[in-house]
Amino acid sequence: MSPHFSLTTPLYYVNALPHIGSAYTTIAADVLARFYRLQGYQVRFITGTDEHGQKIERTAQQRGLSPQAHCDEIAAGFQALWQQLHIHYDRFSRTTSPRHHAIVNEFFQRVWDNGDIYLGQQQGWYCVECEEFKEERELLEGRRCPIHVNRTVEWRDERNYFFRLSKYQPALLDYYAEHPDFVQPPSRRNEVLSFIEQGLQDFSISRVNLAWGFPVPTDPDQTLYVWFDALLGYVTALLEPEDEPTLANALKTWWPINLHIIGKDILRFHAISWPAMLMSAGLPLPEQIFVHGFLTKDGQKMGKSLGNTLDPFALVAQYGADAVRYYFMKEVEFGRDGDFSETRFVNILNADLANDLGNLLNRTLKMAWKYTDGKVPNVQGSAIPREHSLRQLAEHLCQTYGQGYRQLAFHEVCQQALTLARAGNKFLDEEAPWKRYKAGETQAVAEILYCVLESVRLVAYVLAPIIPQLSEAIYGQLGYSIKFNGSVAPDLLGDRQAQWGVLPASQPLANPEPIFQKLSLPATVADSP
Ligand code: MSP
Repeated sequence: MSPHFSLTTPLYYVNALPHIGSAYTTIAADVLARFYRLQGYQVRFITGTDEHGQKIERTAQQRGLSPQAHCDEIAAGFQALWQQLHIHYDRFSRTTSPRHHAIVNEFFQRVWDNGDIYLGQQQGWYCVECEEFKEERELLEGRRCPIHVNRTVEWRDERNYFFRLSKYQPALLDYYAEHPDFVQPPSRRNEVLSFIEQGLQDFSISRVNLAWGFPVPTDPDQTLYVWFDALLGYVTALLEPEDEPTLANALKTWWPINLHIIGKDILRFHAISWPAMLMSAGLPLPEQIFVHGFLTKDGQKMGKSLGNTLDPFALVAQYGADAVRYYFMKEVEFGRDGDFSETRFVNILNADLANDLGNLLNRTLKMAWKYTDGKVPNVQGSAIPREHSLRQLAEHLCQTYGQGYRQLAFHEVCQQALTLARAGNKFLDEEAPWKRYKAGETQAVAEILYCVLESVRLVAYVLAPIIPQLSEAIYGQLGYSIKFNGSVAPDLLGDRQAQWGVLPASQPLANPEPIFQKLSLPATVADSP
């Protein structure tokens, strides 16, 4: 049986259509899912939408829609964007689904039976945007939320049900000590640890005066807190369509989740509340939580409530899915913040994909049509000496790229692959096959062209999880009819393609066509100083 890998994005709030921040996480998760599928894993890639709570209720009200109609519309918007970005998810979890309700009730009951839920008085400052109580000391001047800096928090004083988070402080600390890689990168782990060490407080898991959510099973006058319900969306997503919605069914094959990918603003929910809830319900914890940074525009977090978002629909429509995917994976080190600039976007894509990779393939193919009859030169890759500069670099790439993906170091994978493409260009310039052909050195020309084409193939293979369409186009130009569409052909599996010398001698090549058209800056950006 093939190994399993399950991973999640956060379930996105449906207060508005997706912005580039949500696209960023989802692209990264899709890249990883595609990588693992290519490695021969069975993958369960979960994304979805978080549809309850005050924020959504208010947004629907403002739009004059019922909450459900509003949610349906926005959830469809997320699905449409994922399709345009070639996101190949396995499950789209919506927290308003009746099956999810059943899972939430069963889970609540377990925590209740364990004595971890009690009635208490909740007082504090609440940020509706975060759907979270804030400590007074965290607030900015004018009682503004530190994350949604243009929103003031609201005072709450109500009778709510609480979850005994404090009880799990020692168990959480033990768990962190025993699982040093549970939260990555290490700076985030340290942040969580110091927060736990300051002392954990119980938190309220219900609300009054809120209609949009699941009623508390033991007290229908109260509504379950949106985060309690949302985190369980990861569990509901594991049900097979034909399964009865029970915890046992949801957990039987894919639990525990291997990886939760999240942004830094929702770290505590995932790294503290969620593990404690699972402990209370007697369930194993996820294997790893990877925390990425924020995309900023002009140094400020991009976000729906700040109104400085970059429209991902427009970006994809203008530049194409692979361009957007590549830019974010290459330019922003996963785990750190990154700034978006359209000028940089265009420059990077032109330099890397149009020039270094696209042009290399194109010029080499043209030579192969001139010098080797439109075929892969009749050379066995294995006959190229191991010390050959391109072979050495290519084999190094084959050995290291997998680790890059497994560590979510996407920018490194891109850099390594590009290094090989650049070396291919330099090699061609130095070897000048056009001169050697004139000098009658046909065997040398054949070897040069083979090595470059094989290098381009490897770059395409290694980058396939990031730029699937381009990789498919490159393979097409090299004479293959292989699809990199998420459901993987057997000859792509494992490391079969990640080896030197796979390109078959004398394989007929396609007519050279540019695989990536040079981009130009939109006039408004190009004109600004
Ligand atoms: N609904 C909750 C998650 C529940 S998971 C069970 C939520 N949703 S959200 O839509 O507000 O945010 C989802 C993710 O988008 C978070 O991981 C957040 O960090 C990320 N981003 C929101 N703005 C972002 C940027 N500007 N840049 C990168 N990611 C950002 O929180």
